[in-house]
Amino acid sequence: MAGTCVIGLQWGDEAKGKIVDLLTAEHDLVVRYQGGANAGHTVVVGDEVYKLSLLPSGVLTPGVTCVIAGGVVFNPAKAIEELDELQSRNVEDSDNLRISDRVHVIFPWHFSEDRALDKNTSDGEDIGTTGRGIGPCYRDKVGRSHAIRLGDMYRSTFRDQIEHVTAAKNRLLESMYSTSEFQPLDASAIFEQYSGYAERIKPYVADTTELLLTAAEAGKRILFEGAQGALLDVDHGTYPFVTSSNSSGVGISNGSGVPGQHIDRVIGIVKAYSTRVGGGPFPTELDNDIGQRIRDQGNEYGTVTKRPRRCGWLDAVAIRYTSRLSGVSSICVMLLDVLSGLEELKICTAYELDGKQSARFPSHVDDLRQVKPVYETLPGWQEDITGARQLGDLPANARAYLERIGQLVGVPVEMVSVGPARDQTIPVPHGALTSGLVNSG
Ligand code: IMP
Repeated sequence: MAGTCVIGLQWGDEAKGKIVDLLTAEHDLVVRYQGGANAGHTVVVGDEVYKLSLLPSGVLTPGVTCVIAGGVVFNPAKAIEELDELQSRNVEDSDNLRISDRVHVIFPWHFSEDRALDKNTSDGEDIGTTGRGIGPCYRDKVGRSHAIRLGDMYRSTFRDQIEHVTAAKNRLLESMYSTSEFQPLDASAIFEQYSGYAERIKPYVADTTELLLTAAEAGKRILFEGAQGALLDVDHGTYPFVTSSNSSGVGISNGSGVPGQHIDRVIGIVKAYSTRVGGGPFPTELDNDIGQRIRDQGNEYGTVTKRPRRCGWLDAVAIRYTSRLSGVSSICVMLLDVLSGLEELKICTAYELDGKQSARFPSHVDDLRQVKPVYETLPGWQEDITGARQLGDLPANARAYLERIGQLVGVPVEMVSVGPARDQTIPVPHGALTSGLVNSG
């Protein structure tokens, strides 16, 4: 067994890309298996900053095969834009990419549907989607009759398929938009545009399910790169304020086609605090100066949409839930440096609902809206920690904070990040975050 998975345990944007980038060199393949161009990974290599939303961050490491597996919803224009960008910056190995012929393709109607539907949750609050057509494309996938997969684009029936779906979508969009807003889609233009995309990406298209099964059976080291965060999981997250794929650990096998027996290590990624972008309940949200300070210090603005992220205290109830759900074996705590300078820090250790305290994460969004977080308060630290490279370089209060996170989540902290650069990362030796060892550094 040689499969490792990196999963965000909050609402996305946990800086997973940095950990994936660090782990990539130890792997033969890196796989994206759910979501689409709604994700945003920022990876800093030396002085170079790369922003990717669809290609796996592994494309920055030569010699590694990057795979976009069948569970992804695929925006070909975005993939081509990212490939062109990498090639113009001489990232050698962007050719070493395989895209599943099973991915469902995002078409112009998906963007229009996304814009119209986001205004329509039954309780009036917008989901606040990224507007990348993700939900409508997954809906068509499950609905089957209007779905187009990448493999379909190389068949002689592609033109007929486009005409059939465009006609149906024009009828649908006409009913969703007012007369002045509705602009009919042109099947011939879409066919020409997407045939061009198909030609450009043809060298990368493959049966990645077979490729990955063969690689797993041969004992190749595979890194699965989760997108978004487990609280946005369509089945187990804060529904309906979620994305449309299984973004927790439960999605690895259905998105990639690789069964669980080949996955032996699941690393959960958490920020040292919480953020959420878009609508939906957020029990530990700080709608105050501390929240604004975290937003400014952490540059908490969306990579994809540039929206300001909502910020709050770390929620150990939520993280413990998503860690169990994802089968996490260790966690990495990211952006710890953002908390420097705060007098005290709070961690949510339980929720109070209807006068009762519980550590259970509610299954219904209405209950999650009503819970009151129960906090434990820890002292902060004033030092700048961006130069810390080992555990002993951190102030005692920062180490105590990490130790408490590990205790509350129930798995060890394996790595700590104190800045975006590759070397601003502190490995935590097994067992080191216990009082005695921590104090000796
Ligand atoms: P969608 O995935 O565009 O449909 O958006 C659904 C919800 O997931 C919205 O609240 C988005 O803000 C959120 N979301 C989607 N992708 C990401 C991500 O990569 N990071 C954080 N939030 C995301």
